[in-house]
Amino acid sequence: MEAETAAIENYMSENRLFEPSEAFKRQALVLDNAMYDRAQVDYLEFWKNQANELITWFEPFSEVCQWELPFSRWFLGGKLNVSYNCLDRHVEAGNGDRVAYYWEGEPGDVKTVTYSDLLGEVCRFANALKSLGVARGDRVAIYMPMIIELPVAMLACTRIGAAHSVVFGGFSSEALAGRINDAQAKVVITADGGFRRGAKIALKANVDVALDECPSVEKVVVARRTDTEVTMVDGRDIWWHDIMDRQSSSCDPEPMDSEDLLYLLYTSGTTAKPKGIMHTTGGYLTQVAFTHKYVFDLKADRDVYWCAADIGWVTGHSYILYGPLTNGATSVIYEGTPDFPDKDRWWDIIERYKVTILYTAPTAIRTFMKWGEKYPAGHDLSSLRLLGSVGEPINPEAWVWYFTHIGQERCPVVDTWWQTETGAIMISALPGVTKLKPGSATFALPGISVEVVDDNGAKIEKGGGYLTIVRPWPAMLRGIYGDPERYRETYWSRFDGRYFAGDGAKVDDDGYLWLLGRVDDVMNVSGHRISTTEVESALVDHPSVAEAAVVGANDPTTGQAIIGFVTLKAGQVQSTEKGEELRSHVAKVIGAIARPKTIIFTDELPKTRSGKIMRRLLADVANGRSLGDTTTLADPGVVEEIRVKALTSAGDD
Ligand code: WT7
Repeated sequence: MEAETAAIENYMSENRLFEPSEAFKRQALVLDNAMYDRAQVDYLEFWKNQANELITWFEPFSEVCQWELPFSRWFLGGKLNVSYNCLDRHVEAGNGDRVAYYWEGEPGDVKTVTYSDLLGEVCRFANALKSLGVARGDRVAIYMPMIIELPVAMLACTRIGAAHSVVFGGFSSEALAGRINDAQAKVVITADGGFRRGAKIALKANVDVALDECPSVEKVVVARRTDTEVTMVDGRDIWWHDIMDRQSSSCDPEPMDSEDLLYLLYTSGTTAKPKGIMHTTGGYLTQVAFTHKYVFDLKADRDVYWCAADIGWVTGHSYILYGPLTNGATSVIYEGTPDFPDKDRWWDIIERYKVTILYTAPTAIRTFMKWGEKYPAGHDLSSLRLLGSVGEPINPEAWVWYFTHIGQERCPVVDTWWQTETGAIMISALPGVTKLKPGSATFALPGISVEVVDDNGAKIEKGGGYLTIVRPWPAMLRGIYGDPERYRETYWSRFDGRYFAGDGAKVDDDGYLWLLGRVDDVMNVSGHRISTTEVESALVDHPSVAEAAVVGANDPTTGQAIIGFVTLKAGQVQSTEKGEELRSHVAKVIGAIARPKTIIFTDELPKTRSGKIMRRLLADVANGRSLGDTTTLADPGVVEEIRVKALTSAGDD
C-alpha cells in the first residue's frame, strides 16, 4: 500500500466547490489566468513589472534579482523610501483627504486619520527621532499597544532609514530585553499602558525592568494612553507629546537602497533564542502591495479594509501598514478584544464603518462559532464583500461558518498561507478567478513557485508531504539578524536547494494545496503518519464541537496514540457518550486508523499570543498521565494543568 511510504498521509477529502459569483466577478480586478500565464513564462519579468507599477522609485533598479542560494537580492540599484510610497505620493496625487485609518480604541474613543494627517505626524516624529540621535542604519525597538502612534513610529523609522523592531505588547520584559539586545536598539518607543478587555496593561513598567539589562538603549519615548502613573528616568525618558510639540511637520524622506534593512521581527524557533527575521525595502514592498491589491481585490477609493490582527505580528506589518498604505487604502484599526464590552464588538465595527474586506485568523473564527451566530446576526454586515483567513489551517467547518454567517454566502473566503519569513502571502486564491474549496489555500500566487516533496526531497504530484519553495521571491527574508549560519541551517538544509520552514501539505486530485500544520505536530500511529490538522478538522466537523486540538501521546502498542482535546459548543454536555460519538465520528470521516484513543474535554485550549494552539504543551499534559484505555476524560485536573502550563510558558511563541 502506498500509504506506508507516504511522508504524511492524506485522508480527508472535501469536495464542496464555490465558484466566484457573477456579482463578484462583475467588479473583480482579475478575471482570468493571464497573470498566472505571464508569471509562468518569466517570473522575473513579472516581478519587475509589479515593482514598476506598484512602487515609486527615486532611482530605477538595474537588475531584478541576484540569487546566490540561499541569499537573494531584489531590484538592485533601485532607490526608494517606504514612507514616501505609503504617504507622500498619495497626498501629491490629490488624495490627502482620503482616510488612511479609522482608529477605534477599546473604551470607544475614535480617531479618523487622513493620509495628510498621517504624513504630518510621521514627519514630526521622524524629526523627533533625529533629535534623539537616531540615524540611518540604527535600530529602534517599539513596544506599544494598538494606538495610532504605533504606525506613526514605524513609518517615521522608515522615513529616516532606521530599522524598526516591533515587539508585541503582550511579551514580558524578559522577552523584550532579549530582542532589544539582539538588535542593539538605540531607542525604545512605548506607552504608559494599553487597554485590554477593559483592564489597563502596563507597558512602561515592563520597559523599565527590561532596560536594566539593555546597555545599548539611550532614550525612551513614552506615549500617553491609559494615564497610568509611570516613572520617567531623567535624561533617558521623554513623553511623546512633549517631544512632538517642538517638531516641524516636514521631513525629507531618506532615499534608501532596495536592499537596506526595513525591519527586524523576532520569531521563536525550537531553541530558546528568538530569530531576528530581516526584511528589506524594495522587494518586500513590491510583494506586500501586489498581494494586498490582488488577493483582496482592492479598490482603494471605495473599500474599507480591516485586518484584525495585531501590528506586533507580521500580519499587521504587511497587511495593516505596508500593503494597505502603499496601495492608498482606507483601513480600520481596533485596539482591543472582540468581547469588549460584548461579544458583538467586531460586527458592530463592521456595521458602523461599512467594512468591505475582513482579514482574520481561524482561531478568531472558531471563537465566534463557539459564542454562536446570534452575535453577528444582530448586525448589518451587508457591506462585506470579501473575507480572508491567515495564521493556521482553517478547517472546512470554520470556513463554511465564516462564509455563511459572516459573509452571508456572498463573500469569497481567501485562505492565505504565508509566514513571518516569507514577508507576504504566498499561497492564496485570487477571488475573481479561483474556485474555492473550504479548507484549501488553493494555489501558489503568480510569480511564486511552491512544491510538495517527499522525505527524499522529490516532488510529489499528488498526496501528502512537505511544503517547499523552489525559487526566490521578492519579500523573502534576507536572513536571521547576525546569524547567517542559522539561517542556512534552519531553512535550507533539510532539502537541497529548497526553502523549507516546517509545514506539511498535500496536493489533491485537482492540484489544490492543503496545509497540514507544522510537521513537528505530525503523529505516528502504527507507522502511519497522520496530520493533527486532519483529525482536528474531523472533530470540528461534528455539530457539537467548537474547537479541537489533537496531539500524539506515547503508546506502548502503537508508538503514538491520538489524543483529542475538545471544546464543545455552548449548551453541549461533556459526557462519556459524547466522547464515544466523537471518536466514531472521526473514524467515519477519516478512517479507523485516525480514531482518537482518548477525548479530553476542556473549556479552553492553550494558545500562543498570536493565537496558535500550543500542541507541544498539550502533548506534555497527555504524556504526563496514564491514559490507559480511557476513552473520555472530563477531568478538572487536566484542565487545571493546561492552565498552569499555559501561564508558565507565556511569552513563548
Ligand atoms: C506559520 C507561520 C503569516 C502570518 C501569521 C503567522 C501557519 C499561516 C496559514 C494558512 C495553514 C498557516 C503555518 C506557517 N500558517 N497561515 N493559511 N494555512 N497554516 O505567521 O507566526 O510566522 O507563522 O503559520 O504553519 O508556517 P507566523
